[in-house]
Amino acid sequence: MNFQVPEYIRTLAPYVPGKPIEETQREFKIRRVIKLASNENPLGPSPKALQALRKMQKDLHRYPDASAYRLKNAIARKEKLDAAQVLIGNGSEEVISLVIRTYAREGDLIACPEAAFLAYPICAQAHGVGTVRSRNDAELRADLDDLLRVTRENERVRLVFLANPNNPTGTHVPDQALRKFLAEVSKVRGGSVLVVLDYAYWEYVTARDLSDPLKLLRDFPNVVVLRTFSKIYGLGGMRAGYGLARAEIWEPVLKIKMPFNLNGGALAAAEAALDDRAFVARALKVNAQGMKFWEKALTKLGIPYWPSQGNFLLCDLQAGLGMTGAEVYQACLRKGVIFRPVTNYGLHQALRISIGTPEENRIGLKALIEVSGMPGTRLRRKA
Ligand SMILES: Cc1ncc(COP(=O)(O)O)c(C=O)c1O
Repeated sequence: MNFQVPEYIRTLAPYVPGKPIEETQREFKIRRVIKLASNENPLGPSPKALQALRKMQKDLHRYPDASAYRLKNAIARKEKLDAAQVLIGNGSEEVISLVIRTYAREGDLIACPEAAFLAYPICAQAHGVGTVRSRNDAELRADLDDLLRVTRENERVRLVFLANPNNPTGTHVPDQALRKFLAEVSKVRGGSVLVVLDYAYWEYVTARDLSDPLKLLRDFPNVVVLRTFSKIYGLGGMRAGYGLARAEIWEPVLKIKMPFNLNGGALAAAEAALDDRAFVARALKVNAQGMKFWEKALTKLGIPYWPSQGNFLLCDLQAGLGMTGAEVYQACLRKGVIFRPVTNYGLHQALRISIGTPEENRIGLKALIEVSGMPGTRLRRKA
């Protein structure tokens, strides 16, 4: 073949999503499979979103509203922003890709911490943009001094990505440190570096020292905030997310955004979900209970974990069991439980567990205990 594929595409390692339930059923010939792998909402979709979806079906022959007027305005009303400050994306992933494509060119760089959400470096590389990484501290939290250093030292860094809390670690950076960092970055190269703060898990946060993204938006002109309908609203399959920033930041982005980036169902479902307070409250309760369940169980089994602000928990199987995350993942798959190995984040020792329903959590824990070699009793400890 004589087709030319750019080097940065040829060498790109694509994103590996959580293993789908159906694929696991097919591969292992098991009927009951539970998935605790993709930080989805275990309660399913928001009922209000489902109702809106049913209602819009009669309009499926129409193109969706390219301006996403209703959804944009619903978000703006809720967050007390101007609608021009909202950019709707086909999942927040699309917003990540759009800002990189708008604000960086081939050969430029993004900066992000080690073990940051992999969509950032992947979207960057897909556009010929490289990634520089900063260190994490011993607790797997982003070291913001180091992130500032790599941003300053690498002239071609145009954007910084920071998820707060981060996926897959669940760790967060506190308000004061983040504000200090943002103030410093706004002085780098004449304030031309954009900081994308990914708040995909914001609704789950319980720590009081985690910055309110809306306040950061008000105080720092170079900040973009990402939010999503995929987590607390239970709409991962619909693909709807958004970015919040000053209107000037979105103006060039809107030029490259495809007009019908969200289908009509996603627009209607997301708008309705935004208003589904009862569902959000239920999801928060189930998550808090599930988080406690796993924290308690892991502690009892001697498996250390990183305290998480999201709807998932990262645990250290190497320290707890003397096994790698990939080993436990494979063994649990055979028992019909899908966890998430995080080897591609450089965390060979760890496994990420998404919080499920009480029943899913119990089944997941049972599988973990069984694969550790001491069914029904205690997990095998590291020799
Ligand atoms: C930190 C973070 N940002 C963004 C996303 C992507 O969300 P979306 O489904 O809106 O594309 C995820 C999904 O897991 C995530 O963990």
